[in-house]
Amino acid sequence: MGDMVAEDEVRLIEAGSNPTRFARGWHCMGLADSFRDGRPHEIKVFGQTAVVFADSSGKLHMIDAFCRHMGGNLAKGTIKGDEIACPFHDWRWNGEGRCTNVPYARRTPLRARTTTWLTLERNGLLFAWNDPQGNPPPPHVTIPEIEDYGTDRWSSWSWKSYLVEGAHCREIVDNVVDMAHFFYVHYQIPHYFKNVFEGHVATQHMRSTGREDIKTGVQMDLPEAVTRSEASYYGPSFMLDTIWTESGGETIEAKLVNCHYPISPDSFLLQYGIIVERKPGTGVEQAEEMARTFTDGLEVQFLQDVEIWKHKSRIENPLLTEEDGPVYQLRRWYQQFYVDVEDVTPEMVQRFEFEVDCEAAVAKWQAESRENAARENSAQA
Ligand code: FES
Ligand SMILES: [Fe+2]
Repeated sequence: MGDMVAEDEVRLIEAGSNPTRFARGWHCMGLADSFRDGRPHEIKVFGQTAVVFADSSGKLHMIDAFCRHMGGNLAKGTIKGDEIACPFHDWRWNGEGRCTNVPYARRTPLRARTTTWLTLERNGLLFAWNDPQGNPPPPHVTIPEIEDYGTDRWSSWSWKSYLVEGAHCREIVDNVVDMAHFFYVHYQIPHYFKNVFEGHVATQHMRSTGREDIKTGVQMDLPEAVTRSEASYYGPSFMLDTIWTESGGETIEAKLVNCHYPISPDSFLLQYGIIVERKPGTGVEQAEEMARTFTDGLEVQFLQDVEIWKHKSRIENPLLTEEDGPVYQLRRWYQQFYVDVEDVTPEMVQRFEFEVDCEAAVAKWQAESRENAARENSAQA
């Protein structure tokens, strides 16, 4: 017999269920140039199957992959001029979702249109706008431009993607307020941690140092390195993070993208990439190499997050301490993307600020990692 526990002392997890609706917002599909290889690309997204293709000017379009004639898959077809040709009977579809030509027919059914997504190319990335209500984005809901992107100030993107199955993408977004997991999952010690939510933007400000006992092999492991990070979600799925790593009187600036798009209610494609600033005197190849090293280190970190998400329970009623960030407020912010625009409440979008007091945690974590490091050193001696 186990200990007797009064029923009211047992806290139960309310797991809730994944929304079947997909968030309203701009979603990053990946590196724009990767879609400009002259071939159509199939993308499973928002519970549908889409095809991305470039017209003759290089502009990218995203339309429903299934041909409205007999259901052929356009992603298996061919790009002919500005249109995509279905592999089944060669019907031609343009980026606006119109059938422009049925080569063997006397008349083309011009009226019918297929589903399309509004696309945007920014900072070398392709974005698609999703809105279950079918509205276009308001002008201020957009993806900010990275200053000097495309000039030799920055390396090119070092980019990775990872399919996550068995979890809803809210799990990634929860990380925005999760100060403590940075120590356990990302091997960093946050010294300063603050969140600001306003409108469609949710920001995390953080200053951190590395752990003494665990090194991830990233450039952030430079001795005594201090990392400053300002990360903002622009909408439900696209985070742009500026990271400054200070070490030995030098500061290296990098831009990290952490983004995802939902495939189904319980799977998503996680994508992330890095560009690093090229200092005067740093060669192009050297900067590219730095970006790759950074990304490899990040992969370790992302995979650790993924491992948690894959095996955890969905939880609607997390039990929190003072050191945990504003999870409930973050989720209220996140909820704005899952309701009709008319149902967005002021609590979802009004400015909210919260700073986590890291002092007690830092003292404990520094002691813990120092002890671990000392134990390892004496074991090696
Ligand atoms: S199914 Fe696409 S052309 Fe017939
Ligand atoms: Fe994380």
